[in-house]
Amino acid sequence: MRWLVVGASGHLGGEVARLASAAGAEVHGTSTTGGSWSRLDITDRAAVRALVAAVRPAVVVNAAYRADSWAICADGAAHVALAAAEAGARLVHVSSDAVHGGRPEPYPDDAAPTPVYPYGAAKAAAEAAVAAIDPAAVVVRTSLIVGDERSKQVRFVLDLAAGRARGALFTDMVRCPVDAGDLAAAILELAAAGYAGRINVAGPQAVTRAELGRLVAARYGLDRAAVPVGPIAEGGVAAGPAEIRLDSSRAAGLLSTPLRGVREALGGA
Ligand SMILES: NC(=O)c1ccc[n+]([C@@H]2O[C@H](COP(=O)([O-])OP(=O)(O)OC[C@H]3O[C@@H](n4cnc5c(N)ncnc54)[C@H](OP(=O)(O)O)[C@@H]3O)[C@@H](O)[C@H]2O)c1
Repeated sequence: MRWLVVGASGHLGGEVARLASAAGAEVHGTSTTGGSWSRLDITDRAAVRALVAAVRPAVVVNAAYRADSWAICADGAAHVALAAAEAGARLVHVSSDAVHGGRPEPYPDDAAPTPVYPYGAAKAAAEAAVAAIDPAAVVVRTSLIVGDERSKQVRFVLDLAAGRARGALFTDMVRCPVDAGDLAAAILELAAAGYAGRINVAGPQAVTRAELGRLVAARYGLDRAAVPVGPIAEGGVAAGPAEIRLDSSRAAGLLSTPLRGVREALGGA
């Protein structure tokens, strides 16, 4: 079976490409720079249609994004969905917990978006476009993606600890981090299943960003005190909603892939 992984040069896209290939798929991937993958800019509608028409994939996974770009997150996602639909491909679109405005209660799979910042709004717009173009597509809402140093969440902690980045990890910002390998395996399963629409695929443990930083520090044998922490109020920048918990119980029941909690995923630290 032929797969097209849009954003295969990225962290999650790379994991999806690796697992799909290991499972016997013929995997085509994209990056913006080319290299070992096909060069593609998803803001170029004609280029997306041309590549998908040339590859003729059975499955398209869109893991491409740039948090500061509406054109990539929203318009680009619509271009990918349109091209996948034209090719009759099964589409898995990767979304984010950033579509939510934040609250103490966990969000179910079908919670309507309530974005409060531009990245969340762009991801919400992408979800709407994907659902309108292809109601059978899977929209995977996920949270902070962790793993090794390819994870930007892990890299940020290491950079903070080494003094290469400025800022602090918030003691009052809660998310449900997920391991990149677990998430990629879940995406493979969802691509093969008949599931349509939005589904939360995140870890079962809600932790603060500060706690996540301590777990990463422990995993890398760093002094936990080297990772600066503090409340959102002292962050000085627009940081996003305080509490977003994704209820991934439907995915946990549906999939054979275990979605590990962040403590286990980061090595039981
Ligand atoms: N990282 C997280 O903690 C997190 C949390 C929640 C949701 N998500 C979602 O998870 C997905 C994957 O995240 P990630 O952290 O694995 O991403 P990543 O490592 O930053 O990779 C992003 C990918 O997007 C590609 N890309 C950027 N601009 C593009 C463009 N104009 N056209 C085509 N491709 C483009 C990049 O290509 P180049 O390598 O060529 O730049 C790269 O392959 C995204 O949908 C994101 O919204 C991530």
